[in-house]
Amino acid sequence: MSTGVPLLASRSRSEHVAQFGPLPDLSSPERRGRLIDEVERAGLRGRGGGWFPTHAKLRAVNESAASRRRLSRGRHPIAIANGMEGEPASSKDVALMAANPHLVLDGLSLAAQSVGASDARIAVHRGSAAEEVLTRALRERDDDPVPIALVLPPARYVASEESALAHWVGDGVATPVFPDRPFQKGVDGRPTLVQNVETLAHLALIGRNGGDWFRERGCTSAPGTTLVTVAGSVVRPSVVEVPVGTAVLDILDQAGGPTQPLLGYLTGGYGGAWVSAGQLDEATWDPESVRSAGGVIGASVLWALGEDTCPLVELDRVTSWMAGESAGQCGPCMFGLPSIAEDVHRLAAGAPGADVVPRLRQRLGLVAGRGGCKHPDGTARLVATALDAFSKEVLRHEQGSCSAPEHVGPRLPVPETRSLTADTARKDFR
Ligand SMILES: Cc1cc2nc3c(=O)[nH]c(=O)nc-3n(C[C@H](O)[C@H](O)[C@H](O)COP(=O)(O)O)c2cc1C
Ligand code: SF4
Repeated sequence: MSTGVPLLASRSRSEHVAQFGPLPDLSSPERRGRLIDEVERAGLRGRGGGWFPTHAKLRAVNESAASRRRLSRGRHPIAIANGMEGEPASSKDVALMAANPHLVLDGLSLAAQSVGASDARIAVHRGSAAEEVLTRALRERDDDPVPIALVLPPARYVASEESALAHWVGDGVATPVFPDRPFQKGVDGRPTLVQNVETLAHLALIGRNGGDWFRERGCTSAPGTTLVTVAGSVVRPSVVEVPVGTAVLDILDQAGGPTQPLLGYLTGGYGGAWVSAGQLDEATWDPESVRSAGGVIGASVLWALGEDTCPLVELDRVTSWMAGESAGQCGPCMFGLPSIAEDVHRLAAGAPGADVVPRLRQRLGLVAGRGGCKHPDGTARLVATALDAFSKEVLRHEQGSCSAPEHVGPRLPVPETRSLTADTARKDFR
């Protein structure tokens, strides 16, 4: 039996309730507490990239709200479903919302009630394919105990980082805020819960079926199923649902298998990590196993790179884009990422000069951990892991040649690259 994130055509609310049953009643504090206990028992970990335990976040928002009440500064918390899907290589969240909007909205409703929120938002970026289906679904839900509104922040990569999302909902500016985290001080200073839409769909099923049911699938450290975007040089690029802990090679098979011999994989998305082809042969798709193999499960992207594609040319395209997505608030991010992108570009173009790779490695060490959010860390890891996974290709490029000069394979999806200057950095975040 599937844990229930079926990728079918979108259903009406009555069809949805007929399939999944009604939502549990959370009208008393005891019932709300029990839901969080069930989420803990389920071992649900967030599917937005960090795989953080969901019950811990729910409790943190509750505790933050309680301490504010004690200080008589209490305003109710707010809950936000993160359906932004900022990772260009990921399509699982839009696929889920398009196919099953009410499951996500059920999860948001339960999560919002469990933290005592007075209102909730579901955020998808402007122009998202999920906008229409969510608009329709919300029209069928005027009885939700916590009112939910659809919001459309700008389609910038860091706009979907949780503090940026809270910033936009409160002040209309989608830049990350630090050092406070949203559970402490989010929208207008209120304790704010931000959960990925897939996490919420799982929570909706745990609310109905319980934590033990959820644990019937997946692995001990990360129970349940997960959606995976499988793309690149595979027969059927698709979103698949698998138990967490499924063998990576089985996941590839579900997408029809590779179309050609592979050089490696991008794991997790653009804030993730490259690994060379053999590295994932024994791995299973769970955070710990993928990490042991040198990758990152992150936003659950598995992108296969075929031999007909130069990894450094792809790295160049993605790194330039990531550099242009900085919010321009922190020096190491604003100035470091364009310098890194410049070095990667020289390397990809061939014959970069003997100093470029050592300088690049040094620059990577200077940005990681030094931003207000994890954007520079993700970009630095993307580049550092490519240098390791494709070290032979790096050597070839240093010597002025390339093993795939035609570069004919599938390209990683890269939206329009912005050139980052002090003047342009903060534009387009409203
Ligand atoms: C640069 C950046 C971009 C992010 N983009 C997304 C996103 O598009 N969707 C998402 O759910 N989480 C994204 N995250 C993670 C969120 O900050 C947050 O941790 C997540 O929404 C929490 O949900 P979860 O606990 O259910 O995983 C991003 C993080 C960073 C640093
Ligand atoms: S690290 Fe970069 S993206 Fe993150 S807050 Fe600082 S400038 Fe913005």
